[in-house]
Amino acid sequence: MMHLSGFLLACFWLLATLALASPVGSTPSSVSESKYATSFLGGALINVDQTPIPEKAPELPAISTVSAEWNVPWMKVPPGADLSNPDNRHKMAQWVGILGNACADKSWTPFLQAGTAIDMDENGITTAFAWFEWFPAGSHNIPSEVFAVNPGDQVRVITNVYTRTTGHVYMMNQHTGQEYEKDVTADSPQDPEFLICLGYGTAQFFQEWVIADDRTELPVFNNVTFTNIEAIDRRSGHFDLGTGTQDYWNMIDAGRPVALPEEIDSSSFVVYSPEGSTWTPSKGEKL
Ligand SMILES: *[C@@H]1O[C@H](CO)[C@@H](O)[C@H](O)[C@H]1NC(C)=O
Repeated sequence: MMHLSGFLLACFWLLATLALASPVGSTPSSVSESKYATSFLGGALINVDQTPIPEKAPELPAISTVSAEWNVPWMKVPPGADLSNPDNRHKMAQWVGILGNACADKSWTPFLQAGTAIDMDENGITTAFAWFEWFPAGSHNIPSEVFAVNPGDQVRVITNVYTRTTGHVYMMNQHTGQEYEKDVTADSPQDPEFLICLGYGTAQFFQEWVIADDRTELPVFNNVTFTNIEAIDRRSGHFDLGTGTQDYWNMIDAGRPVALPEEIDSSSFVVYSPEGSTWTPSKGEKL
């Protein structure tokens, strides 16, 4: 399936970039010294220390819960873009995730992520769906008959990691009131590469650009505002953008800003595209 392969590819990029973004290879961007740059992720993260693990207690990842709310965006067709070429139609995902950082093998980045994604069709119409993923497996897309999301909806998503291979995903569409929840397990729990790592944890709040091929045309989307963002550690300690361990990632492709985060307050930030930031689409509008 095209979508799935897109996600797999995106995850491969994520793997590479997370490895690069951990201290040694990190590249602060020119937009702001405190921000990192990647070509496919824009948003925020919060680092959370591992609390000491009591003797004989099971070893558990530092972060137990990450949650946030956001609006599912629309994408706009850039003037003159040829939509019959699938490379000019973009997919963007909005998600929260839980990562541990002290993996036995530095190339591993198992993490649980869940959220929404938007696609553009050949007529320029934006459609949306929900999904979750236990990286490095591919995404599990949630059928719209089970849980429906549309551009313009406001969603709340909560991810929990119970053990290194089990967790839970909760979603609520605050526009329709529909809820979704599921106990989730690492797709290959016997494979050490799937065990969420110990060490300090990272709570992730991202918009991701999921396109595998040509990146000539940049996606243009209306502001995505993440609110009520929070991470909770094993001792029920609460962390947010005011904790002092947050970082922001700019999405910059070939020198072109694609998605830029901007803090609003200690529990919210906006991700905007330079060309979409003044756009306020509404459901009736022909997009
Ligand atoms: C989108 O976010 C940017 C950056 O904070 C802001 O300047 C702009 O006014 C926002 N646009 C809308 C329509 O709220």
